Amino acid sequence: MTTAPAVTTHQEFSFTDEDFRALAQLARAQFGLSLAESKKPLVYSRLARRLRARNICRFDDYMSLLDIPDEQDERLQLISALTTNVTSFFREKHHFQTLREIVLPRLASRRRLRIWSAGCSTGQEAYSIAMTLLEALPDAGSRDIRILATDIDPAVVERAKVGSYAVEDIENLPAEMRRAWTRASPETAGKSEIAAEVKRMISFGELNLVDPWPFHGPFDAIFCRNVAIYFDQETQQRLWQRFAGMLDDGGYLFIGHSERVSGPALQALETAGVTTYRKKQDTLGVTRT
Ligand SMILES: C[S@@+](CC[C@H](N)C(=O)[O-])C[C@H]1O[C@@H](n2cnc3c(N)ncnc32)[C@H](O)[C@@H]1O
Repeated sequence: MTTAPAVTTHQEFSFTDEDFRALAQLARAQFGLSLAESKKPLVYSRLARRLRARNICRFDDYMSLLDIPDEQDERLQLISALTTNVTSFFREKHHFQTLREIVLPRLASRRRLRIWSAGCSTGQEAYSIAMTLLEALPDAGSRDIRILATDIDPAVVERAKVGSYAVEDIENLPAEMRRAWTRASPETAGKSEIAAEVKRMISFGELNLVDPWPFHGPFDAIFCRNVAIYFDQETQQRLWQRFAGMLDDGGYLFIGHSERVSGPALQALETAGVTTYRKKQDTLGVTRT
């Protein structure tokens, strides 16, 4: 009987446990990302491209590069490689139904409305919010409405601002909205553009959610969906608490399907539906940061 030869897996780049731990520490400190040991093979395959792109042969050299102050672009490439930008129009539809049927009717008499799409990726979430507002509030144009949409990754923020999407992506929009607020791109075949009146409602910007926030709110609703899933528990709990501090009393927080609010923020937020939370009235002890 012949025995099969031992298989040796060949790795193009050396990636020791120590390299992985150093990388995980940096990702946690700078972006709040949690990288469990079990993610080592995934991290290797995602970052091997960056080593090739930078013509670097060793992970420890790549780590040294990330320490250089001028290498902010590479640090952003790192976060792009370690997270995903997957999104779509009206993803997790029930949140938009809650927005239209519960949140907005409660704000019917208010002129000022503020909503934040935190971790907006390429913008579909913010545009879905804007279209929901336009549909539900016929007088939207005469109110003081702003949607803030932020992401850590400048490349996706840029794409969000442009608001040009493949026709297949636009097909996720309800037909009436598609007709009312998108048009075929005059420049690029197979692309559709979001109408100016929708774009006008949104301010897109770069923001690392782990850093201090350069605004104070209060917001009537915050969408932070499928972002905190990458963070370790401590960072998540801190984030929920900061969101609670940014919400107006009675304001809503919408989070991703596999996320749950936990920790001290639960003193301020009550469950108000599937992955939906509402800030209790007159909550004490929640600091705005
Ligand atoms: C999967 S997308 C979610 C997009 C959208 N919220 C949705 O649910 O469809 C996750 C986004 O979170 C962003 N992200 C990851 N870490 C972040 C951080 N520390 N601060 C801000 N955005 C972050 C990523 O760049 C990415 O665009």
